[in-house]
Amino acid sequence: MVLLSSASVLQLALCCVALLLIHLCAAVPSSKVGFGYRLVSIAENANGGGLIGYLQVKQRTSTYGPDIPHLRLFVKHETEDRLRVHITDAEEKRWEVPYDLLPREQSPPVGTTKPSTAPFTASAEYAGEELIFCYTSDPFSFAVKRKSNGQTLFDSSYGAMVFKDQYLEISTRLPNSAALYGLGENTQPGGIRLQPNDPYTLYTTDVSAINLNTDLYGSHPVYMDLRNEGGEASAHAVLLLNSNGMDVFYTGSSLTYKVIGGVLDFYFFAGPSPLAVVDQYTSLIGRPAPMPYWALGFHQCRWGYQNLSVVEGVVEGYKKARIPLDVIWNDDDHMDAAKDFTLDPINYPRPKLLQFLDKIHSRGMKYIVLIDPGIAVNSTYGVYLRGMAKDVFIKYQGKPYLAQVWPGPVYFPDYLSPNGVSWWADEIARFHQLVPVDGLWIDMNEASNFCTGKCELPTTNSCPIPGSKTPWICCLDCQNITNTRWDEPPYKINASGSHVPLGFKTIATSATHYGGVLEYNAHSLYGFSQAIATHRALQGLQGKRPFILSRSTFVGSGAYAAHWTGDNKGTWANLRYSISTMLNFGIFGMPMVGSDICGFYPAPTEELCNRWIELGAFYPFSRDHANFASPRQELYQWDSVAVSARNALGMRYRLLPYLYTLNYEAHVTGAPIARPVFFSFPNFTASYGLSTQFLLGRSVMVSPVLNKAATKVKAMFPPGTWYNLFDMTNAVVSKDERYVTLAAPLNKINVHVYQNTILPMQRGGTISKEARMTPFTLIVTFPFEATNADAQGRVYVDDDERPEMKLVEGEASYIELYASVRDKTVTVWSQVEMGSFILDKGLLIEKVSVLGLQGNGQGLAIEVDGEPWADALNAHFTQTKSDLMKVEGDNKRSNMVVDVGGLALPLGKKFSMTWKMGIN
Ligand SMILES: *[C@@H]1O[C@H](CO)[C@@H](O)[C@H](O)[C@H]1NC(C)=O
Ligand SMILES: *[C@@H]1O[C@H](CO)[C@@H](O)[C@H](O)[C@H]1NC(C)=O
Ligand SMILES: *[C@@H]1O[C@H](CO)[C@@H](O)[C@H](O)[C@H]1NC(C)=O
Ligand SMILES: *[C@@H]1O[C@H](CO)[C@@H](O)[C@H](O)[C@H]1NC(C)=O
Ligand SMILES: *[C@@H]1O[C@H](CO)[C@@H](O)[C@H](O)[C@H]1NC(C)=O
Repeated sequence: MVLLSSASVLQLALCCVALLLIHLCAAVPSSKVGFGYRLVSIAENANGGGLIGYLQVKQRTSTYGPDIPHLRLFVKHETEDRLRVHITDAEEKRWEVPYDLLPREQSPPVGTTKPSTAPFTASAEYAGEELIFCYTSDPFSFAVKRKSNGQTLFDSSYGAMVFKDQYLEISTRLPNSAALYGLGENTQPGGIRLQPNDPYTLYTTDVSAINLNTDLYGSHPVYMDLRNEGGEASAHAVLLLNSNGMDVFYTGSSLTYKVIGGVLDFYFFAGPSPLAVVDQYTSLIGRPAPMPYWALGFHQCRWGYQNLSVVEGVVEGYKKARIPLDVIWNDDDHMDAAKDFTLDPINYPRPKLLQFLDKIHSRGMKYIVLIDPGIAVNSTYGVYLRGMAKDVFIKYQGKPYLAQVWPGPVYFPDYLSPNGVSWWADEIARFHQLVPVDGLWIDMNEASNFCTGKCELPTTNSCPIPGSKTPWICCLDCQNITNTRWDEPPYKINASGSHVPLGFKTIATSATHYGGVLEYNAHSLYGFSQAIATHRALQGLQGKRPFILSRSTFVGSGAYAAHWTGDNKGTWANLRYSISTMLNFGIFGMPMVGSDICGFYPAPTEELCNRWIELGAFYPFSRDHANFASPRQELYQWDSVAVSARNALGMRYRLLPYLYTLNYEAHVTGAPIARPVFFSFPNFTASYGLSTQFLLGRSVMVSPVLNKAATKVKAMFPPGTWYNLFDMTNAVVSKDERYVTLAAPLNKINVHVYQNTILPMQRGGTISKEARMTPFTLIVTFPFEATNADAQGRVYVDDDERPEMKLVEGEASYIELYASVRDKTVTVWSQVEMGSFILDKGLLIEKVSVLGLQGNGQGLAIEVDGEPWADALNAHFTQTKSDLMKVEGDNKRSNMVVDVGGLALPLGKKFSMTWKMGIN
């Protein structure tokens, strides 16, 4: 990282001449909002490394407020593949995402350095291992380039940089061929790939997922950029770490951020593979939280389970229908008058609830309930009284800020306040004494408020209105607040898709948190801070791995919580949208995600519910949830849906060891559980916009039906052999970017596994606790008619409720699985890391199924721990020939499934088996 040496200046000269030319050629519109900055000094940062530069505004304007005259630039290659570019006011400390909430390297405090008087070049470069930072000084702009192929990843010379107290603007030029993903939370009817000229507004809002291209519950100002030049793909990501509201304009050839506060704090992640991007991204923002095993089971919820008997009936309904169910949920029905941490004494009497929980817990099932952040203002309510005593609520003009949510008038806890965090943990501990719940669902935490502005308890009516059927209508006396620049900032983001005031139906943006922090700045961190506080509380309780489901999320939320996509509709379109949002959250480092299966409201059709459970069975987070106004939609309510559910969830429960291993990989490397197809096939450009299919892990392809009355599905398969996981005697052999039409009768979902894979499966069951003790089958997939090929897989197993998810002897085991075929000899073997845990559990492999071979197997030899296996005589071949679907229109040829059955190999010991393929 040599700075300004003659060699690098020379290189940079090239880098920047190119920039300059582009700059001159492109007719850049001169922005009326600002005229940009001039670099006045740049030098190495003596303490802590990196570069520090100073910028001076070129010409002032008054649009959206005065320009900040002097800026401080800080640039650092923080790791081999991460570059940070941080720009802030040179004189005054500005709001940034708090370092205690999102721990990361500090930027140098402003005021500690002065502009260097040393001479500097007008343009230069500063290179890391893969990323190169280039600048030109007047007007100041910077570019980020990739060393290995010379691509320019980011180039701010596209437009003038503007930096005012409440308005920041910066742009980058982009090649039209770049495929962009991310910038959520947003329901994208156009699919996962960002569409030019669609609006992307980021501001956490209780706007339901049925609203398209609108700022929804979460804010994730990050995008992945995937490019393919000369057949070789490379991906990188750009995070603008900023919690203020923003509009992002993507035109196809440029991207412009318009942000209403904070700092420009960019992080560039070099990739170059999509998996490397999420690895680098989650190494900064926090690795995805490990999920307990049972969380990968099926969940049932409904808003409107009027009493405990109804809930008991649901659990029985699933049992009778033999449909898997691990977790039963309550929305707010269990609460006394919608108050957090209480029980309705009539409909959910505690002794009966405890009996019920004993019963389901003994079967291995779990129970989760909802809580909202709003704490009812009620002088007989202990939670409220203790909160008041500890002064934990967000304030407006010195008093707790009054809002209205389900219980009526509420105050919002401040999770940025140390008292708020400890009070919250105490309330959760008390509640756990009352009801031993297995996880918490934190809803309405954008925060959602039924009123707007400055409100008071009404003097003329009671609020909540007794017996009201519309408790979501504001019954407080409220006035809009229009007299502060926080409530009415000069630049209006496209909030709620209609430029409503920032405080509309949320906390007034001039309200304050602990330490005087403005809601204006911290707004989009509310759900994130609540998830952190809730995680801390649950972790302290029982030494178990917490499970939290959060509606509102921010950069880093994945380290604490799972997410569902919020209120959706039971329509075919919403079924389709769920895939894009799920895949986006994988990129956001929140891989445990799913949508309300069958739709939150209104009534789904029976056919739709069939198709939804077929898809939803493969969401990482798989939950059926509905609104009280919809008819009941548990999967056993229709016979046909029950058939589809047994089929699809049956497969999910057989795949649990695979899903749990993906959960481990997500936790260790950030790899999404559900992934866009390009994650495994980045060179396969046809898949860049593919939003109707997805992968689980590297190689399991889910191709759902998304259209009414369809009995076929047109599915895209990257080149290679894809075996149908339900009927392994069927496969697709794809040679190029062709769609294949697959049969998809009402009760069937197409799930395929790619060649070169070893998929660990178990027998399944209806509760994960039982399923996970059943024997394993290893599915080995070679390319069709393989004569020389390899396959690989892995299994991670641990004591699945302990807080940490890491490999520790006696607490977890990791088994790597290998297979090869060479010269008609097939070998399947394992390597075992820390096998004792799994040996103690007694888990066995009962069968190995090998797909893609020709001929019959002969001469099986099996070793365990290097010794001939004593029970080898029980092992036997079963070989099935069958149809193969050929994409290229060749003759159908047969596919051989070679099953080696009768095994009882301990999974915790390394084994090896080998045989010859004869000629049939
Ligand atoms: C993509 O293509 C390039 C160039 O042909 C090749 O080097 C690379 O291995 C390919 N990547 C993948 C994941 O197939
Ligand atoms: C529970 O609610 C259901 C549905 O409203 C009702 O039919 C049933 O009588 C109630 N049971 C009890 C014990 O309250
Ligand atoms: C406070 O809560 C109690 C118990 O739920 C309820 O009876 C009472 O009406 C509430 N008071 C107010 C002012 O809402
Ligand atoms: C407050 O502002 C909102 C949004 O602009 C508007 O819909 C509402 O009518 C206003 N309320 C009052 C009391 O002026
Ligand atoms: C604001 O968002 C709405 C909803 O997506 C969209 O229809 C509208 O075009 C956006 N307005 C602007 C100016 O981007």
